[in-house]
Amino acid sequence: MAGIVLVGAQWGDEGKGKITDLLADDMDYVVRFQGGNNAGHTIVHGGRTLKLHLIPSGIMYPHITPVIGNGVVIDPKVMLDEIDRLEADGISTHRLVVSSNAHLIMPYHRDLDGASEKRLGSNEIGTTRRGIGPAYMDKASRLGIRVQDLTDEHIFRKKIEAALIEKNELLEKIYDLPTYTVDEIVDEYMGYAERIRPMIADTSTLINVALRSDQWVFFEGAQGTLLDLDHGTYPFVTSSSPTAGGACTGAGVGPKAIDRVLGIAKAYITRVGSGPFPTELDSSPGSIGEHLTMKGGEFGTTTGRQRRCGWYDAVIIRYAVQINGLTDLVITKLDVLSELDTIKVCVAYEYEGRRYNDLPSHQTIFHHAKPIYEELPGWKCPIDHCRTFEELPKEARDYITFLEDLADVPVSIIAVGPDRSETIMRRWERRP
Ligand code: IMP
Repeated sequence: MAGIVLVGAQWGDEGKGKITDLLADDMDYVVRFQGGNNAGHTIVHGGRTLKLHLIPSGIMYPHITPVIGNGVVIDPKVMLDEIDRLEADGISTHRLVVSSNAHLIMPYHRDLDGASEKRLGSNEIGTTRRGIGPAYMDKASRLGIRVQDLTDEHIFRKKIEAALIEKNELLEKIYDLPTYTVDEIVDEYMGYAERIRPMIADTSTLINVALRSDQWVFFEGAQGTLLDLDHGTYPFVTSSSPTAGGACTGAGVGPKAIDRVLGIAKAYITRVGSGPFPTELDSSPGSIGEHLTMKGGEFGTTTGRQRRCGWYDAVIIRYAVQINGLTDLVITKLDVLSELDTIKVCVAYEYEGRRYNDLPSHQTIFHHAKPIYEELPGWKCPIDHCRTFEELPKEARDYITFLEDLADVPVSIIAVGPDRSETIMRRWERRP
């Protein structure tokens, strides 16, 4: 049995798409278990750049079954558009399987996401405005519409009738926005139903059967640990569980199905949207922050927003090790640091004269925490040609070893460039 989970160890955008694509060769299934099209995976494969939002990264491989699990919220139009784009690019999508229990993002979810952000003004969360939060709200309040509802027009219509009583009031009376008729939503979604019906399956059973027959299943997280609804920097978080436990609930497998948990982190750190960020760097012209933004191409795949950049924060990584039970670290974008004279790493925080080696549980302390840095020498030469750890310059090896010691978890994979070939596989055994 091989169940492998990959989660973001920071605030998302750590490079999960590339690593999933890289490890996918050995997998039979790649499963998305949470989030929706708020995610953005950039994959550089054979000189082509592919941007995926909802479809699991394993789609590129003809031997893999890509699965959208029950924990995902699906905007059907976005999913079908993504399928069409992949097909136009010559990538077959006919193996894609979608959980019958996954919830659907409805047009009013998108409207309400945008409207509530606007109403929050300067307190906004900085959501992707894709309707993710409102869709999970409806799921929790038992008002959601699920993929399986698409297969029964009668039930679908009844559920929309019930939902619109409340949604139209909210749209009109609170937000002064146009309302929806039952017919327009039913017509639109029944159009999608035709195409989605053949993809619908009991994905939990599918995955469990695969695991029992010794197939390899890769659970591909979106976003990151600090965006987790329970464990992240609440309220500046997403509405799902991008941590390892989320793989169990969002795919329908037990914790014993998971053999290895990979936590992925950039060699520095970024975040998009609002919220506290202790090691954030100034990004004015000529600054190190600007250098990281430009060199790292730190602009969102989904929204195009410029990402906030900062030094690597080992306190956050230790927290990610704890929350996810990480067995390995994957460090990406090490090459982005190649031109720097020195590199800082945050090893602890300071607040009101006290040192915090672990993430402070009170938000006020985290919001005002000052990073305590250690400064390491840079290597000042390109490293994108390195394919083994030993080929890296001494300073780069020392940097990785330092991160490893701080996390107390081995760094098993290191990315030194965007292409899948630009990777050091340090502790990863290929499938026998
Ligand atoms: P939502 O997921 O659209 O509700 O946005 C909530 C928070 O999560 C915002 O700060 C977003 O910027 C952030 N977020 C959502 N998806 C991603 C992602 O894939 N990468 C990084 N941040 C994300």
